[in-house]
Amino acid sequence: MSLTETIRRLSIDYQPIDRDHAEFINLLNQLDGASNADFPALFQALYLHTVEHFEQENQLMQQSAFPAFSEHNGEHQRVLSEFKQFQSSVDKGMIAFGRGFIKQRLPAWFVLHVSTMDSALAAHIKSAGLAPE
Ligand SMILES: [Fe+2]
Ligand SMILES: [Fe+2]
Repeated sequence: MSLTETIRRLSIDYQPIDRDHAEFINLLNQLDGASNADFPALFQALYLHTVEHFEQENQLMQQSAFPAFSEHNGEHQRVLSEFKQFQSSVDKGMIAFGRGFIKQRLPAWFVLHVSTMDSALAAHIKSAGLAPE
């Protein structure tokens, strides 16, 4: 499946979040083809992007009084701490650990998270009338 097609299929029809998800998918794809020399910097870029992406969703949840905030935020925190463990492996030169994470664990988690928790958030924002026209 092409990158554009993946991004389209994972759309939750709420642009501010879809934009972050497209960036996430782009970075994952770059990591997939990265050399060992380029891998650590890109891995860190994906980590930093993910911190901001989750922060943006957490703000939207708070602004819209999203009822499942603590579960959704808890899932974000859980993944970030897992991410940090792999970041420290990559920092020590264990690139293969990082490759395993971005090839299997992270994409599978992302697809499930977007299609459940993030899409529920987008639906809530729209039903609360908070989505931009
Ligand atoms: Fe998300
Ligand atoms: Fe999320």
